Amino acid sequence: MGIETTQPAPAGAPGALLRVDSAATYNDKVVHQFTVATVFWGIVGMAVGVFIAAQLYWPALNFDIAWLSYGRLRPLHTNGVIFAFGGSVLFATSLYVVQRTCHVRLISDRLAQFVFWGWQAAMVGAVITLPLGITQGKEYAELEWPLDVLIAVVWVAYGWLFFGTIAKRRVKHIYVANWFFGAYVIAVGLLHIVNNLVMPASLWKSYPVYSGAVDAMAQWWYGHNAVAFLLTVGYLAMMYYFVPKQAQRPIYSYRLSIVHFWALISIYMWAGPHHLHYTALPDWAQSLGMVFSVILLVPSWGGAMNGILTLSGVWYKLRTDPILKFLIVAISFYMIATFEGPLLSIKTVNSLSHYTDWTIGHVHAGTLGWVAMISIGSIYSMYPRLLGLSKMHSTKLIDAHFWLHTLGVVFYIVSMWIAGITQGLMWRATNADGTLTYSFVESLVATYPYYLGRFFGGVLVLAGMVLMAWHMWRTWQDARGLAVNPVLAPDSPEAA
Ligand code: HEM
Ligand code: HEM
Repeated sequence: MGIETTQPAPAGAPGALLRVDSAATYNDKVVHQFTVATVFWGIVGMAVGVFIAAQLYWPALNFDIAWLSYGRLRPLHTNGVIFAFGGSVLFATSLYVVQRTCHVRLISDRLAQFVFWGWQAAMVGAVITLPLGITQGKEYAELEWPLDVLIAVVWVAYGWLFFGTIAKRRVKHIYVANWFFGAYVIAVGLLHIVNNLVMPASLWKSYPVYSGAVDAMAQWWYGHNAVAFLLTVGYLAMMYYFVPKQAQRPIYSYRLSIVHFWALISIYMWAGPHHLHYTALPDWAQSLGMVFSVILLVPSWGGAMNGILTLSGVWYKLRTDPILKFLIVAISFYMIATFEGPLLSIKTVNSLSHYTDWTIGHVHAGTLGWVAMISIGSIYSMYPRLLGLSKMHSTKLIDAHFWLHTLGVVFYIVSMWIAGITQGLMWRATNADGTLTYSFVESLVATYPYYLGRFFGGVLVLAGMVLMAWHMWRTWQDARGLAVNPVLAPDSPEAA
């Protein structure tokens, strides 16, 4: 049975590239496919992000072409980065981790291929329909019903594949990363189906079965929990597998991870109304959402500390291992976003922040800082092992990517924080006679320079992703070279 190992380089060959036990009994084909798809969609989704950031600074970039307009490209960006990039990396890592921790191959190779191609088809559908203006008009749930049906079918197949593999496991224990992956698979399926219940009027037009405030509540129950279970819980699963793996230390506290799990999934579901403060939603529901959001700080930070303290005693590794830097800085951004989130959910703070770029800053602290960095770190840790290698082609290139990305995120979120708070303060400023001190255009002019800062940050992040793609291709070439002329790890089966 090929259990994956992290092999030290043999004496006399420091840092040499090695072929390690490539775990031939696992289905790594589908993991490899989703990993490549992650980087591909990451570049596409972030390039669209950079383009719409440029449009906000240079509006002429709309070119008066409907399908290039900001209103159509913005959902293309969010769908591209959340579902195509974020989704692909979750498929890749969950299917990699479940096999390694259960010591068993996926239950079906054909089902795995169906999940891969089905998901890619849905994403291509998004790329075609969104610029054409085909949309349900609900944020993060824009795709029309035929694509929603396809996603639901693929998701059920994915659940079957994941839980079927757990059921077949050869170890009694279910490692905590699989608990988190399992919760994300169940919750995302549930959210997707409930929020997309619609009456089709034609092939590309439908109407929701809910109306009014109920529709808004269902939408933000979905929207918030998409953040919770897709953009958080699944990535915490990555943290629980890849941080200990990369640090070569056991997780700081297994007991804390179980408390973390139950606390997080029982609290997150109730926080959605914080997206609907000061709306037609009943006041008590808004306050309930606020209270649960504030409480969320505790399990979020508890779980983050569990990840960070895993490095106790081996902090020095951060100096030499840029993969660990990606993983640990990701957790730090997670802590920033989960401190900021409860703050923004307090109604008085939200009255300042809502509709401003502060929200956009918070979103990208979470998505670019946490989601993208933990994904990139996990891929750098996992990818060489998929190829049967002990490491990526160049540690220096990973380090360069780390700095490009980190600087890019800092530029992005600091620009948006300043822009957002400036907007909030200018909009609420009144003169002694009660009239507004500033016109809307004046607030726009004041925030203009920060849009350039965000664009610049985006370019750095995108450049890092392109570097990553090239680096992965180069590593793949190393693997091909070693297949011809192998330098065997001393304890690999071939060397024995
Ligand atoms: C304790 C955890 C968190 C809480 C309590 C929280 C709370 C909030 C609040 C209050 C808003 C602003 C709502 C508004 O004014 O419209 C918001 C927006 C948002 N947050 Fe968080 N947040 C948390 C963590 C995160 C994380 C980790 C991410 C990403 C990985 C994230 C992604 C988002 C997104 C995408 C939005 C924008 C939603 C929209 O209006 O389109 N949040 N969050
Ligand atoms: C190169 C990197 C990126 C750039 C330049 C970028 C740029 C942008 C821009 C310009 C917006 C629209 C802001 C507005 O309407 O005022 C936006 C929205 C958004 N982006 Fe990004 N983005 C990037 C990466 C990402 C990533 C990796 C994710 C998720 C994994 C993400 C998730 C989102 C979300 C959820 C929103 C909607 C926020 C809301 O409605 O409150 N972005 N992005």
